[in-house]
Amino acid sequence: MANKSLAKQPSDLCVLVTGGAGFIGSHTCIELLDRGYSVVVVDDLSNSSQVALDRVRSIAGLAPDDGRLRFYEASILDRDALERIFSENDVDVIIHFAGFKAVGESVQKPLEYYWNNIAGTLVLCEVAREHGVKNIVFSSSATVYGEPEFIPITEDCPKHEATNPYGQTKSMLEQILTDLYIGDDEWNVVLLRYFNPIGAHESGLIGEDPKGIPNNLLPYVAQVAVGKLASVGVFGDDYPTPDGTGVRDYIHVVDLARGHVAALDWMGGRVGTGEARGLGSIAGAPAEDGTRRGVGIFNLGTGKGSSVLDVIHAFEKACGHELPYEIKPRRAGDIAENYAACDKARDELGWVAEYDLDRMCADSWRWQSTNPDGYATGVSA
Ligand code: NAD
Ligand code: WQD
Repeated sequence: MANKSLAKQPSDLCVLVTGGAGFIGSHTCIELLDRGYSVVVVDDLSNSSQVALDRVRSIAGLAPDDGRLRFYEASILDRDALERIFSENDVDVIIHFAGFKAVGESVQKPLEYYWNNIAGTLVLCEVAREHGVKNIVFSSSATVYGEPEFIPITEDCPKHEATNPYGQTKSMLEQILTDLYIGDDEWNVVLLRYFNPIGAHESGLIGEDPKGIPNNLLPYVAQVAVGKLASVGVFGDDYPTPDGTGVRDYIHVVDLARGHVAALDWMGGRVGTGEARGLGSIAGAPAEDGTRRGVGIFNLGTGKGSSVLDVIHAFEKACGHELPYEIKPRRAGDIAENYAACDKARDELGWVAEYDLDRMCADSWRWQSTNPDGYATGVSA
């Protein structure tokens, strides 16, 4: 079946957002609705709450029954549920966030990670293809670069063997989606490699809501700031970095969400030349309707590295008090430093990250301080 055309205005396009109730997905739904897209979310709520979507509706100014945002509580592993979703909605393109993402847990539960992330994506793509949808944006990760060969990391930096099953799933899914295009040149695939997404929507209504004790730095710092945890453990101060602590490219989740909207414009031929796909990307000839075909790969980061201590100090400014921290040994599998070269996304997608670390921490603090237990209270907005 021929691929659905993206050569339409956003108001005529329907986006299936898998994992749309999650941290990045919920922020992306807002940006899509703001641009006029219709959005269908499929999420099994394994790591999220439906309250997030109620709040998305309220931020976007939609009535609870407004059909521009529809929600299906289902797993992407559930073929029948996906069949129903594609039959009931005229989906044009998929933004695929759904998956498990905890690095440490993936080492303990490889079967669950490979099954959910890999098999889930295979079922999704198979059902999508049956319904003539071969347009997909995939949530990849800077983790595919492993220990980077050079910094700032460009998209043609060689990929390295992932050190954990989670990272393997990202690398393998990039390959699987690339092979879909090689086998059928109607596919229009974008792989977005996120650096470290943090922050929250400026309304303070939606944000990151990790279950249990957070693994990642920002939610941990935020919970120390709000008094739920005693002190931040800084994993190593003897790295070859300016202050000895690990350096990462933190990106505001709203900037990241907007990167997805830019990717849809690019896939539809509304921005960019399509020439700058670079090594590792495959440029197909554009379709007759001007939409792209091929595999586009883009880093989404700010291009700026911040250390663990930079983050703690920026958060202190945001919350207005000092945060206790103690130096701990290095965490296994961590690298010293990574940050992105974002020229390709700027030149092709017309996208650049706008918000700095202070703004990321201010928005994260607003979310955390007004929702210390995340969505657990269940109040919609
Ligand atoms: P998240 O856990 O908040 O969101 C993922 C969502 O997918 C959750 O709502 C979860 O309930 C849902 N989900 C999981 N398995 C599912 C299934 N089988 N069927 C339907 N829904 C399912 O995570 P996030 O931070 O928003 O990440 C979104 C995507 O971006 C993930 O693929 C993640 O691997 C990727 N990513 C995240 C980061 C990060 O640091 N947050 C960095 C790089 C890439
Ligand atoms: C950031 C820095 C830690 C916690 C992970 C995944 C990656 C991607 C993003 C999905 C590092 C230090 C952390 C703490 C600390 N996710 N740290 N104390 O490891 O860069 O990336 O999330 O794709 O795949 O690996 O993010 O937030 O865990 O760590 O000192 O309590 O903070 O050592 O230098 P990371 P992070």
